[in-house]
Amino acid sequence: MEILFIGGKMKGHCYWLTGLPCSGKTTIVNELGLTLNAAGVQYHILDGDIFRRNITNHLGFSNEDRRSNLLIAANISKILILHNIIVLCAFISPFVSIRKEVKEIIGEENYTEIYIEASRETCIKRDVKGMWKKALNGDLHAFTGVGSVYEMPLNSITINTEKKKVFESVSELKKIIEGSGKSWVPTYQI
Ligand SMILES: Nc1ncnc2c1ncn2[C@@H]1O[C@H](COP(=O)(O)OP(=O)(O)OP(=O)(O)O)[C@@H](O)[C@H]1O
Ligand SMILES: [Mg+2]
Repeated sequence: MEILFIGGKMKGHCYWLTGLPCSGKTTIVNELGLTLNAAGVQYHILDGDIFRRNITNHLGFSNEDRRSNLLIAANISKILILHNIIVLCAFISPFVSIRKEVKEIIGEENYTEIYIEASRETCIKRDVKGMWKKALNGDLHAFTGVGSVYEMPLNSITINTEKKKVFESVSELKKIIEGSGKSWVPTYQI
């Protein structure tokens, strides 16, 4: 496994992955986490599904509840960043206005938004959890991509997962982290 950071003194930063259901957000943060773990980097993953199960299980999928869910995640990210932890967030986060609020809470200097791009058709084909099928059959209310819109980011860094292997997309995220020099300050590097 390629090692990116060893004994690095990291400055906290949030990498916020947004994209359609099944675009690859969870897969990418989990894979990157393995590398960061091996390198001894302090990181934390906030993943939509787990977050809703453990922290915000009182919330549903109305626009207001989606907003509350994401603002809570943003505030937790902010605390983690204060402790110099790299935060990898994987949330559909479909609305531009709410992502803007998230960015304001976390602070522009600590926030990098990354659009995980895959076409609706590809996401429907992947259908990891069977949710697309349910939504398309009319059994799921307000599912992003069917009954609720996904507003594409206009100015975000993009990682395309459509025609790439998982390791290639993860490698792109690694490069983004390495390239944003402000996000980490290694004490030494190999
Ligand atoms: N280049 C790629 N990067 C990431 N995932 C990929 C890629 N190519 C194929 N996949 C597959 O696409 C699926 C993505 O599912 P994943 O659960 O990560 O999506 P998600 O964006 O987290 O969805 P949700 O919003 O529903 O949680 C996985 O089965 C993964 O193996
Ligand atoms: Mg996911």
